[in-house]
Parts: sequence; structure tokens; C-alpha cells
Amino acid sequence: MSDVAARLVDYYEREMAERATRPLDDEREQRLTAFVEHLRAEGLGSVVEVGCGAGRDGFRIAGAGVAYSGVDLTPAAVDLCRGLGLDAHVASATDLPFADDSFDAGWTMSTLMHLPGDEVVTALAELRRVVRPGGLLEVGVWGADTSGEWTDDGGRYFRSRTDEELRGLLGGVGEVVAFDTWTHFTDGGHYQWARVVVS
Ligand SMILES: C[S@@+](CC[C@H](N)C(=O)[O-])C[C@H]1O[C@@H](n2cnc3c(N)ncnc32)[C@H](O)[C@@H]1O
Repeated sequence: MSDVAARLVDYYEREMAERATRPLDDEREQRLTAFVEHLRAEGLGSVVEVGCGAGRDGFRIAGAGVAYSGVDLTPAAVDLCRGLGLDAHVASATDLPFADDSFDAGWTMSTLMHLPGDEVVTALAELRRVVRPGGLLEVGVWGADTSGEWTDDGGRYFRSRTDEELRGLLGGVGEVVAFDTWTHFTDGGHYQWARVVVS
């Protein structure tokens, strides 16, 4: 495991139990509700979540009656998910432990901005590999008006991209059919969310 990954795991191991108790913010709540409704409306029966965290989204997705699998680099996160009865695995976004075309849809929120260098390209290629063509992918990350990278006081690595950069990366996965942003930080950053039809 890289130093960047080890520091992320160290951070999230310490605070995952507290994160499990945090309510979803309004924007996440809206997107998650819409995602679950979309799964039902389109008859999409299986979902992979990358960066499942404490299982807050996964519990809701699985509760919709779809087959759900989550992965996270942090063992404490996977333990919490399993405690909720979810199928969860310790694995990296860059090396998903699933066969090609295993899922109808993918969901990854607040995770891919933690990947350094070109790892986000690998992670998106992995999502494209395990979600079948014509399937759905929803992605949310912390973005900004200028691209940049930093490590916070807790040792977590972040890489922010502009909306154009993120759209370009997602274009390698399929057709970006929706893209939205909203204020997330007081320092000029914003949240980026996209819905992609996998090609
Ligand atoms: C900010 S938390 C978000 C968790 C959850 N998606 C949510 O929104 O509540 C980021 C998560 O990404 C996970 N993570 C970081 N790098 C990862 C990687 N390379 N592969 C898989 N998970 C990773 C962390 O362990 C952590 O659980």
C-alpha cells in the first residue's frame, strides 16, 4: 500500500464509527433518493459502491431490494457495512474484486478525490469494467474552480479538479447525461456530481 493510501486508512480507521452516526446532507439525500428511484424505474438490479464508508448510502441502496456490493480501503468501514448486513470487501478502487460486467450500476461518493496521480483514471476504468455497457454510474467528488492537490491536517490526500477536467475523465467511461455542482466549502471549492451512462 502506498504512503498516501496508508495515511487515508489510518485517518478513516479512527473516525469511521463517528461517521456512521452523521446524517446525510440535503444534497446527498436528494441524489441518493433519486438514484434509488432510478434503479427501480429502470429495473437495474445490482449496484457496486466504491468507497462505501460506514454504509450509510449502501444501506439505503440495498434496502431498495437490489443486489449490493461495496468496497472500501478501510477495514473499519467494511466491518461497519457487514454489521449492517451488507456485502462489503476491503479493496482499492483501482483493483475491484469483481468480474467484468457484474453490475447494472455504480455509485461512488466523496472518494475518488483521494486518489493521487493517474489512479482516478484506473479507478474509472475499473468501474467501467465491472458495470455493464448501458449501465448507470453516479459519481460525486470534491472539486474546485482550479485543479490542485493538498494534504489536510489529518494526513488525508485530496486532488481537486475543475468541472471540465472531471467531465473529460468521465467521458472515458461513457456519456455524461447530467452534471451538477453545489457549494460545499467556504474556501471556494464545490461539490461535483455526475450521472454517466456506461459505454
Ligand atoms: C469521505 S469518505 C466517504 C465515504 C462514503 N462514500 C460517504 O460518502 O459517506 C472516503 C472513503 O473513501 C475510502 N477510500 C479512500 N481511498 C480509497 C481507495 N483507493 N479505494 C477504496 N476506498 C477508498 C476511505 O476509506 C473512506 O471510507
